[in-house]
Amino acid sequence: MKGSQRVSRLRELKKSGEKIASLTAYDASFARLLEKAGIDFVLVGDSLGMVLQGEADTLKVSMEDMIYHTRLVSRGLQQTLLVADMPCNSYTDSVQALNNARRLINEGGAHMVKLEGGSEILDQVKSLCQNGVAVCGHLGLQPQSVHKYGGYKVQGRNEEDAGRILADAIALEHAGVDMIVLECIPRLLAAKISVALSIPTIGIGAGVDCDGQILVMYDVIGLSGYIPKMANDFLQQGGSISTAVSNYITAVKNGTFPTSAQSFD
Ligand code: KIV
Repeated sequence: MKGSQRVSRLRELKKSGEKIASLTAYDASFARLLEKAGIDFVLVGDSLGMVLQGEADTLKVSMEDMIYHTRLVSRGLQQTLLVADMPCNSYTDSVQALNNARRLINEGGAHMVKLEGGSEILDQVKSLCQNGVAVCGHLGLQPQSVHKYGGYKVQGRNEEDAGRILADAIALEHAGVDMIVLECIPRLLAAKISVALSIPTIGIGAGVDCDGQILVMYDVIGLSGYIPKMANDFLQQGGSISTAVSNYITAVKNGTFPTSAQSFD
């Protein structure tokens, strides 16, 4: 399957009403396991700064780190869409964003890149899209801005913030992005955004009404040291990593994950 077919499949899934299931991976073995289980796309998240490198946040992850791990994951995948995070400070202007996105694609093997932000990064997003780069947006809680928020806090709880996140989502779609991750926002806001957009929304702590779900792989198998509210340890019930991943995919597809316990009001 070509990269462009992998990307257009996401819109088809949204159109058909089939939920999109995704997880992060950082190496070839996990990537192979996720593909075998039938995951819809794999994200090489800059969460690797926390779960692999042991940092308190994602801010120190470099382009070299992202290219290295994206290359490892790409070796484990035959046909699955591979999305790679652009790390902090790698897209401060359009020229830098395009150069670094091309490195993730050419050196890492990514099919799509993900950037955190809304109206403030529209120039970069437009430049990427106009130059043929497939782009995933990331709104709501943006971990690269953790210090601005004063911690990992739910976003969009007041009317003004909710309106801004919705407006940013619409602006990103108009700029040409192919999907948007919505992190830690109230379920009803995520539902409103998902209806307003024709591109898929992928939730993490954003409720069951998103077009798909994503989690950090290590949270799904209880390896992160604690289970964040928006996650679930599928290994406890599954017994093996591959069963845990299959159970996660099934739960996303049939709408039993996330429950209200893993969502915010
Ligand atoms: O870095 C990451 O893993 C992410 C996802 C959890 C959405 O951005």
